[in-house]
Amino acid sequence: MKYRFPEGFWWGSASSAAQSEGAAQQGGKAKTIWDHWFEIEPNRFHNQIGPAQTSTFYENYRQDIQLMKNIGHNSFRTSISWARLMPDGINVNQEAVTFYNNVIDALIENGITPFIGLFHFDMPLYWQQKGGWESRETVEAYAKYAEICFNLFGDRVACWMTFNEPVVVVEGGYLYDFHYPNKFGFRMAAQVAFHMMLAHSLAVRCYRSLKLPGRIGIVLNLTPSYPRSQHPADLKASFIADLFFNRAFLDPAVKGAYPAELVSLLKEHDQLPVYQAEDLALIADGKVDLLGINYYQPRRVKARMTAISPDAPFMPDWFFENYEMPGRKMNPYRGWEIYEKGIYDILINLRDHYGNIDCYISENGMGVENEERFIADDGQVKDDYRIDFIREHLKWMHKAIQEGAHCRGYHLWTFIDNWSWMNAYNNRYGFISLDLETQVRTVKKSGEWFAEVSRNNGF
Ligand code: BG6
Repeated sequence: MKYRFPEGFWWGSASSAAQSEGAAQQGGKAKTIWDHWFEIEPNRFHNQIGPAQTSTFYENYRQDIQLMKNIGHNSFRTSISWARLMPDGINVNQEAVTFYNNVIDALIENGITPFIGLFHFDMPLYWQQKGGWESRETVEAYAKYAEICFNLFGDRVACWMTFNEPVVVVEGGYLYDFHYPNKFGFRMAAQVAFHMMLAHSLAVRCYRSLKLPGRIGIVLNLTPSYPRSQHPADLKASFIADLFFNRAFLDPAVKGAYPAELVSLLKEHDQLPVYQAEDLALIADGKVDLLGINYYQPRRVKARMTAISPDAPFMPDWFFENYEMPGRKMNPYRGWEIYEKGIYDILINLRDHYGNIDCYISENGMGVENEERFIADDGQVKDDYRIDFIREHLKWMHKAIQEGAHCRGYHLWTFIDNWSWMNAYNNRYGFISLDLETQVRTVKKSGEWFAEVSRNNGF
């Protein structure tokens, strides 16, 4: 076998509570910002499909876990819904405890290692109304919630992930208008980013103090930044994009400190968040055991060519422009670039500059619009394009591992086609297709292929 992976490699997929559970108003769950946003602005959501219409994991988790096993999963990530576990922000909902206990136990009984996230974009409305991540009160509330989760489920959860893609919460909610509360302002965005990393660090500190058997980490969407050319102005543009979108989270999570260049840039422009003296020691305690990497596409940048108006509010975009590199390979079924080598570059960068931290690919995947067009007469989606996509990424991962990177697994986004924030079901990503009318699940060709790869631990 040409591409054999290390013993014990994690093969599986990822999902999240809000995108798969359904039962949005059942089992004692309170509203999240997504339930609320859909009520007030349904037109923001593709085909006006909101977060109540998912793949019903809440009811069908046993069937789904059986399917995971059938397609070779030895690990799976989902998240706990904070709004389900603590609907009033203080008390624990016993129905939710039973549900998450059942899910975790069923995974383990089926030989699937549970990776559990604590926050995947789904802020309880209750905390959002008190300021969400803008407020320090939410940081304290999250730390309490994390401690409750560790005490309830930590005896069985092998890997905890404090946050999923915190930068997306910042970009979407405070800079570029694609997540609630769709506000705008860089200083607020920086405060939100800082508060999430404080909350992360409190959770890590608490987890370590409990001396539980598993590991704790964070999931970051690392987007390697490539300059248009080696001209110093393009190199600088790329360096700054990397600072804002990767290193603002990666450095504190792995090194326990913010990059000095980022701090001085924000200071120079009077954009530093408010912090307390003891916060930096707390950030230093937030170093993870395991890093989850979500990789979809690279960022290509060039030096800014068009001038910024002197009254324009401060933005990362002051320092660079996106660069549409001629000839880059695009996903023909959704407008994202496909650059498989990016996964290798990320892993080598972690090897060389981040102490070769233990990591795994926590999301990678190919969104496809109108995937029904690939259903064959036998009823199966023949997604050969997804098989190629995964295989080419695995080859680059394999090369990085051969060269010493500590990459421990690969999770596809996602298991069953799921509801996806404002895109709803526009882009299908799963190993398994979902009929929205009947909820019937059908394994795609890629699911069968992946089962073989997992069984052989390579291809
Ligand atoms: C990741 C998120 O950013 O990308 C997922 O962790 C999300 O929650 C996935 O669904 C795919 O993005 P999109 O925009 O196609 O739904």
